[in-house]
Amino acid sequence: MGYLSENTFSLAEELKISVYKVCPESPGDIPAIEVLVTAAFGGPAESKLIALIRQRKESLTSLVANDGDIVVGHVLMSSITLDGPGKFGGIAPLAVAPAHQKSGVGSLLMNQLLLTTRDEGFDALFLLGDPAYYARFGFIPSHINSEYGADDAFQHLELRPGCLAGDRGTARYVSAFAEGDV
Ligand SMILES: CC(C)(COP(=O)(O)OP(=O)(O)OC[C@H]1O[C@@H](n2cnc3c(N)ncnc32)[C@H](O)[C@@H]1OP(=O)(O)O)[C@@H](O)C(=O)NCCC(=O)NCCS
Repeated sequence: MGYLSENTFSLAEELKISVYKVCPESPGDIPAIEVLVTAAFGGPAESKLIALIRQRKESLTSLVANDGDIVVGHVLMSSITLDGPGKFGGIAPLAVAPAHQKSGVGSLLMNQLLLTTRDEGFDALFLLGDPAYYARFGFIPSHINSEYGADDAFQHLELRPGCLAGDRGTARYVSAFAEGDV
């Protein structure tokens, strides 16, 4: 009986994970993204930032995770500039609706974003966040300075190994980041 219950539980967990689908944001997703991002961060600063980036057409990639018809996760990437050549993305923000956190949604979004950016020829990606979470995707604390501090929270992932070698100056996000409350 115990054996049967355990397997039934595992199957339910697997089925739960498999219902999440990741796809590019569509216009109809925008209100739901605003609601979930505000709930995930406990305030509107990040959803206002997304709106500003979208309004300025500075979003390079915006993905949603759906549970059936409901948007439960979102990630946005805009460009980062460094001294010297290269194609760089800044991932921010990443958010999962509180009721769906720790169910693999954030990981699905990140993994899809990494596949997409590899296909699109990005050299490296940057983000600010908890290294304990982002290390699982291969991010490491960056030796490059950011406008938002240079501690371990500023991380990078080289998609083209060695592309960040040398002095690359300070990483700069699109202007909306400096104008919001984030
Ligand atoms: C951070 C966040 C995007 C993670 O998404 P998620 O779908 O809950 O995460 P996943 O299910 O993919 O991964 C869960 C794992 O990440 C860990 N984790 C989640 N948030 C973490 C954090 N802030 N720091 C460290 N670890 C974290 C969980 O403990 C869990 O660990 P385990 O695999 O060892 O059990 C989500 O919790 C969220 O939206 N948080 C609020 C907004 C936020 O802080 N965004 C990130 C800004 S950089």
